[in-house]
Amino acid sequence: MRAPQHSRVHELSVEEQAIYRELDPARIPRHVAIIMDGNGRWAGKRMLKRFLGHQQGAESVQYVVETASRIDLPWLTLYAFSLENNLRRPRAEVNFLMKLLKSYLVGNVKRMNDNNVRMAYIGRIHELPAEVQDTMQWASEATAKNTGTTLTLALNYGARSELVDAMRATLRDAITESEGDFARLQGLIAEMDECHVSRRLYTAAMPDPDLVVRTSGEQRISNFLLWQIAYAEIFVTDRLWPDFRGIHLLEAIADFQRRERRYGGLGDGFTDEKLAEKLAEHHGAGDTAELVRR
Ligand code: FPP
Repeated sequence: MRAPQHSRVHELSVEEQAIYRELDPARIPRHVAIIMDGNGRWAGKRMLKRFLGHQQGAESVQYVVETASRIDLPWLTLYAFSLENNLRRPRAEVNFLMKLLKSYLVGNVKRMNDNNVRMAYIGRIHELPAEVQDTMQWASEATAKNTGTTLTLALNYGARSELVDAMRATLRDAITESEGDFARLQGLIAEMDECHVSRRLYTAAMPDPDLVVRTSGEQRISNFLLWQIAYAEIFVTDRLWPDFRGIHLLEAIADFQRRERRYGGLGDGFTDEKLAEKLAEHHGAGDTAELVRR
């Protein structure tokens, strides 16, 4: 259970407060996931090397996390480093990102604690350099008691490999549990449902994201949380990640609150009953029943 907290909304900037006032505090998403994109383009536009774009991107991370914590957003997940980044980017860039991550954690744990932020990670963490893993573990232990926003960094993360890892774990457990009894194994397989899969994902302890934000205008999901975002709203902004601030997170949430979420159902907007009411206003009840039937 989350400990009740004092509102920290007064800590938002004046501009942020103006947007926050328009929001319905009861409908702040539980979980926002962000695909941080555009660091390279930000640097290129300024004739700077790519690594300076990443460095600036790390600054944006802290601004956004602190705004999230001030509005008491329970879960914020950031796509910081994909499996594909690890495999396909030049080694020098990957090494730089690893160093940046380490220095980001070392430099910001105190601020995380000041903001009651708890740190977590998803991805094939065990494949990252040992000293980076050590720093990550230190940061998560140092912030473990915090009860505000959980900041999850997706590192060496790919949604398809997450699903592969989940399948392996599920099968391994079923085989162990069946103790060599083939009929029992078949029964366990037949019983498997969506909950079994969810429980095996890196995100087992989190709610699914309500809102996915992608910066830099690309309209792609890029192998991010494929299972978990089945019903998430997607918000794409042309703004490049190093220019993204807390105020832009609030704008994305405002946009989210203007949407109607249906989860495959009909929502409040357009049911046959609503149609009948609308038509009745125009035609009178007698004709309406006939029109709805058609
Ligand atoms: C995409 O920009 C961003 C990344 C591959 C890495 C994201 C990393 C950070 C925001 C900084 C470090 C993060 C932490 C948590 C310290 P890109 O290089 O793909 O940009 P481009 O598409 O414009 O080339």
